[in-house]
Amino acid sequence: MQIARTITELRDLLAAYKRPAFVPTMGNLHEGHIALVNQARTLGDVTVASIFVNRLQFLPHEDFDTYPRTWTSDCAQLTAAGCDVLFAPHENELYPEPQTYKVHPPAELADILEGHFRPGFFIGVSTVVMKLFACVQPRIAVFGKKDYQQLMIIRRMVQQFAMPIDIVGGETNRAPDGLALSSRNGYLSPAELEEAVHLSRALKVMAATLKTGDKDIASIEAQGMDTLTQRGWKPDYMVIRRRTDLLPPTESEPLVAVGAATLGTTRLIDNLEF
Ligand code: PAF
Repeated sequence: MQIARTITELRDLLAAYKRPAFVPTMGNLHEGHIALVNQARTLGDVTVASIFVNRLQFLPHEDFDTYPRTWTSDCAQLTAAGCDVLFAPHENELYPEPQTYKVHPPAELADILEGHFRPGFFIGVSTVVMKLFACVQPRIAVFGKKDYQQLMIIRRMVQQFAMPIDIVGGETNRAPDGLALSSRNGYLSPAELEEAVHLSRALKVMAATLKTGDKDIASIEAQGMDTLTQRGWKPDYMVIRRRTDLLPPTESEPLVAVGAATLGTTRLIDNLEF
């Protein structure tokens, strides 16, 4: 695997390729990221990953400074997965001056759910992804479905700006008990790690309840919140939304149950399409 630290090095390495397939990450890689890299390998003529912990998408009280930087293990995993090029710019390469031009995704998509609890998060994400796309110039980019709203916002951004990039969603990788793999699982104590699966279980129960005929979505969502609260979590939201735009459902249509909740001091998110 070749490593580019600058945009010029990256462009030199990719100059000969026509269909770069790209997986952007913030590092601290796990099997979920590697599954996205494997997916990317089947789609392009060169596989590119990036590692960049993007300050713009962290709120002041969030974990930017302590976000795990696991360079050696990340490189070993990407090399083993057959990633061809890793773009790992220093902060002053990607943001040599304050990033005053920003991408503001529409409020109806970006200020709900994650965006409501993490104001400005999707401005930070969209801005860095736009910039990474400008650097890598991929034809394909793979994003995990675990960050469901992020995937939807990036897909819309690419569509609205007519960017020639296919956005592909990668299925969520799960531990054998059903816990969605996440870089932030590393913050959990052994006891919390055992408990953490209850977020996905509560989402499953919500989906199953709706499917078995109970049409009272508000009470199903309240039940999802209660289940987690009673187990000691602090849930931010447990909701059922339509897959197309994450708005409340109006009729029979493809749905997704999405949730975010804090266990101890670790905030986890998950979702389930049904
Ligand atoms: O999902 C992530 O890891 C980040 O939000 C991304 C897409 C790499 C942008 O920093």
